[in-house]
Amino acid sequence: MSALKNFRGHSPVLQRLCYSDWGLDPAHDIWPLRAVSARLARAISARQYWPSIMPQLHFIAGHQVSQAQEASWLQIRLEAAAGEGEIIAEALAHAGALSVTLEDAADNPVLEPLPGEAPLWPHTAVIGLFEADTDMQPVLASVGKALARATPPRAHITTLRSEDWESVWKNDFGARRFGNRLWVCPHGENAPVPDAVIVHLDPGLAFGTGNHPSTALCLEWLDGHCQHGDRIIDYGCGSGILAIAALRLGAARAWAVDIDAQAVLATMNNARDNDVAGCTWAGTPQHLTTALAGENATCLLANILARPLIDLAPRFAELLPTGARIAVAGILQEQIDEVSAALAPWFELTEPRIQENWALLHGQRR
Ligand SMILES: C[S@@+](CC[C@H](N)C(=O)[O-])C[C@H]1O[C@@H](n2cnc3c(N)ncnc32)[C@H](O)[C@@H]1O
Repeated sequence: MSALKNFRGHSPVLQRLCYSDWGLDPAHDIWPLRAVSARLARAISARQYWPSIMPQLHFIAGHQVSQAQEASWLQIRLEAAAGEGEIIAEALAHAGALSVTLEDAADNPVLEPLPGEAPLWPHTAVIGLFEADTDMQPVLASVGKALARATPPRAHITTLRSEDWESVWKNDFGARRFGNRLWVCPHGENAPVPDAVIVHLDPGLAFGTGNHPSTALCLEWLDGHCQHGDRIIDYGCGSGILAIAALRLGAARAWAVDIDAQAVLATMNNARDNDVAGCTWAGTPQHLTTALAGENATCLLANILARPLIDLAPRFAELLPTGARIAVAGILQEQIDEVSAALAPWFELTEPRIQENWALLHGQRR
């Protein structure tokens, strides 16, 4: 499983976007794909930079064909031994790659990096994207030379097709329903049914838009459990999707917390876009108690990962009065017992909900 890809864009337009327009730190020239994909999505839905970022979009969406009639790019994938990932990535960049992405070649998922982190894996696959007419032999030779090997590592070369991006975009990232009433729609699109409760968010590929099963579980839970007038804590808010969905479903107030300053900013922007900024507070965890100003939350959602959830269990207990509801996700099925045990001293949990090996635990504060 590869839950995170690391990305490096070499086209000048992409570099400019990453550094200037999106404010990604130039000191790190590899970013978790999560940090880039939502921004690319926003650029594409605004039809900005359309032709120049198409190859990256195709790559990110992972759409490939083996026999393209209209090939537009060549993709090369090389498996790197320990310590070789960066060397191969550099060699591909020097050989003219439009973008280079690194991903887990084995089963060592890095599910959620801390802000500023772009960890590599013990066995990394390096993927380079080239113009369709590139002669790949010299590219391979330069990788071999960079690794000081007579023969370069085994490479898998495929073609990517340029046609049909718009329909792919619509199929993969169009309006999507969670539960009965709740819909997440890209900007400019609406739900195809009357009486839908809509959250407008541009889609990314990982957490934060409902494309990840763990976020989907939380949104479905909210659709069934969010009550009119609820006061919600969204712990680990990312894009703010859960807080915003709760407010759209009738909650009165939301406190959205994240350790990542970018997430705090994104949450406030998304809250504004969805007309719920007036009842949203977003900030870092150390400011939450002050922001609550003695108000009691009625519900807490946290879609993080098993380890931080275990560590945070006593804090969640502190934040919630008796009877308040809790839903936590970001838990792999095999981690259910461990996370349940950490919550058990304070929370009465009911049957977990499962989607694609991801679990949501829910219950009430004792
Ligand atoms: C998996 S994302 C979830 C985003 C969004 N809530 C969703 O459901 O799609 C987890 C978020 O939790 C944040 N996070 C990780 N550890 C945290 C912690 N200890 N305290 C607060 N936020 C944390 C990450 O920065 C990230 O934005």
